Amino acid sequence: MTHPTVAILGAGSMGEILAEGLVRAGWETENIILLVRREERAREAERHTAIRATLDPVEAVTGRDVLVIAVKPKDVEHLLGQIGDVVTPDQVVVSLAAGVPVEIFESALEGSAVVRAMPNTPAAVDEGMTAYCAGDHADSDSLALANMVLAAVGETIQLSEDLLDAVTAVSGTGPAYVFLLAEALTEAAIREGLPHHAAEKLVIQTLRGAGALLSVSDKSAFRLRAEVTSPGGTTAAAMHMLEDGGFRALMERAVRSAAQRSRELGDMAREQAGK
Ligand SMILES: NC(=O)c1ccc[n+]([C@@H]2O[C@H](COP(=O)([O-])OP(=O)(O)OC[C@H]3O[C@@H](n4cnc5c(N)ncnc54)[C@H](OP(=O)(O)O)[C@@H]3O)[C@@H](O)[C@H]2O)c1
Repeated sequence: MTHPTVAILGAGSMGEILAEGLVRAGWETENIILLVRREERAREAERHTAIRATLDPVEAVTGRDVLVIAVKPKDVEHLLGQIGDVVTPDQVVVSLAAGVPVEIFESALEGSAVVRAMPNTPAAVDEGMTAYCAGDHADSDSLALANMVLAAVGETIQLSEDLLDAVTAVSGTGPAYVFLLAEALTEAAIREGLPHHAAEKLVIQTLRGAGALLSVSDKSAFRLRAEVTSPGGTTAAAMHMLEDGGFRALMERAVRSAAQRSRELGDMAREQAGK
């Protein structure tokens, strides 16, 4: 399958991450175009990605196979107003906008194949996790095109739309949980007397190593943790403290709160669109 032509509508941080990933995956830069809304952003995005940026929505959309919507959820309605008359039913629309339901795109872009996706920022190093769901008009060919674009920057999984708020809370928001853990662990390491550079190195490689082990091992996280926790040992002391302090319950509340926020963004998008 040859690479589809791609327009990235809204070249901010996620848009640029995807654009750069497509180039790393073998897309010719001429087969990608970025839509921006400020001249200064256009120059900046072109400098970062070596891909042409335009301020003209019609030029960005016309003739591209896949249209990736990468504006903030609050800007989706305005963008759809700009491109609604130009998008044709043979184009595949892939939205990355958190919480914005498929129906918003389907009613603005009648007959279009819509795919709603939730990526995450490790896509910047081709280790992204993207979950996506299919709209009513997305057939297997459209899904294959969407998957090809999304899989350029990591793993993908197709799920039903009702699960995407949970996905947002787990893998979309997930990198921030890990970065917070890294910050907290580094601070604790420094308080135990380790020099800053050593603390950072220990923490980063430990997170990287544990993640790699977890991803290649056929053992569960529970099993791997049990194997490093001997009764009365140092890990057991730390685990006891975390369990006692409510770590699990806190994690659950954090995920629930992110999922709730995602649902609220969806409701706001529906209200904005008069749905
Ligand atoms: N970042 C993440 O971790 C992440 C993860 C999963 C999903 N997402 C989703 O990805 C989308 C983008 O997020 P982001 O973090 O990349 O936001 P961002 O950095 O603010 O990028 C959005 C870009 O879209 C531009 N824009 C807005 N309306 C436009 C229009 N009508 N025409 C052309 N350009 C327009 C903005 O221009 P200005 O520069 O002028 O504001 C900005 O550069 C969001 O919907 C978010 O939910 C993000």
